[in-house]
Amino acid sequence: MINLKKKYTDCLNFVVNKVVILRLDLNLPSYDGLFTDLTRLEKVIPTIEDLLKNNAKLVIISHLGRPRGKVSEKYSLKPIVAKLEQKIKIPVAFSENDILKTKPEKILKKLEDEKILMLENIRFYPEEEKNDDEFSKRLSKFGDIFINECFSVSHRNHSSIVGIPKFLPSFPGKLLEFEVNFIKSIISNKDIKNNVAVLGGAKISTKINIVKYLAKNFKKVLVGGAMANTFLAAKKQNVGESFYEPSMINVAQKILVDFDEKIVLPEDVIVIKSPDEESFEVKSVDNIFKNEKIMDIGPKTRMNFAQIITSSEGLIWNGPLGLFEKIPFDAGTKYVASAVQSNKNKNFFSVAGGGDTISMLKQANCFDGFSFLSTGGGAFLEFIQGNSLPGLLVLNE
Ligand code: 3PG
Repeated sequence: MINLKKKYTDCLNFVVNKVVILRLDLNLPSYDGLFTDLTRLEKVIPTIEDLLKNNAKLVIISHLGRPRGKVSEKYSLKPIVAKLEQKIKIPVAFSENDILKTKPEKILKKLEDEKILMLENIRFYPEEEKNDDEFSKRLSKFGDIFINECFSVSHRNHSSIVGIPKFLPSFPGKLLEFEVNFIKSIISNKDIKNNVAVLGGAKISTKINIVKYLAKNFKKVLVGGAMANTFLAAKKQNVGESFYEPSMINVAQKILVDFDEKIVLPEDVIVIKSPDEESFEVKSVDNIFKNEKIMDIGPKTRMNFAQIITSSEGLIWNGPLGLFEKIPFDAGTKYVASAVQSNKNKNFFSVAGGGDTISMLKQANCFDGFSFLSTGGGAFLEFIQGNSLPGLLVLNE
């Protein structure tokens, strides 16, 4: 497992009167066009303040969502500039200029008046996700030093993560360093065979390796959310109009054969019935009709999940168990999260990771019940399996 060779504090010797390119993860969770949680922003404020105190000027780079290389109002970082200004109480300049068509020096002129400049969503450029060398070089012209302050994006081979460090002295950020060291200490110090994992969210396709890893190493893997629907469909249960991934049925079947005893699926669920989407009812998973849609785990499942959690020694959680943004379909997630909270004072270690997961735990009022919350979703899941993240490796070169 990686040891970061450079320390965050090392960079403080270099930043005085320099321009720092600060890669953040301002990919804030949202629902119905509104940001639901600002944790990812709040957690990097101490780093920003530190750097400003050391007389650095900052060029902030971030992504928001997955605009797939196209400019899109929906994914603009502009609303986040206002949120940042509220937190740090100084003005922040914003540049919507196309960085491929405008010279960096021209864009950087905005730093004559302000201490911080935020660039528009870096994923508006297809070159970012291709890790295009020319693009990385152009990005590197925006500063003298690069700081990666986004553990949560460090599993991506993207220009603003692994490309810029080829051209500039690069350092880990304060939060990144803390997360890496903390998660490492959890993995290496804990006996994990009596731990339980809670996995939710929409897709199994993005989590196959972690499902296998957890099923192999943990006591149980409790699955909810739309992910569970794919497993239910793999068991030939009718999931009605619920979202599931038909292309993953074979993979899900294989996982169920290999880890039958470990994977715990919902036995009952909350469904809505089209066309009357307002009324909902509890259904056993073997009795779902064609016009029904699963919205949450049911009461029996909640109690079963809670019981397994309270008899475990530790827990890892990623993803909601239902459509938690919409009341009352947050009830299953809240119930299970409260079981984690009730274990708080026992010798029980609980870790959760991901933007949506943090937002969900805040909404469930269970934020404080967890021993550690990582800003990383995908990155966190990769890292706990012992995989090296490219964005961290490059900081050691
Ligand atoms: C996340 O939300 O996990 C990070 O912002 C990374 O986003 P991505 O999965 O779209 O790369």
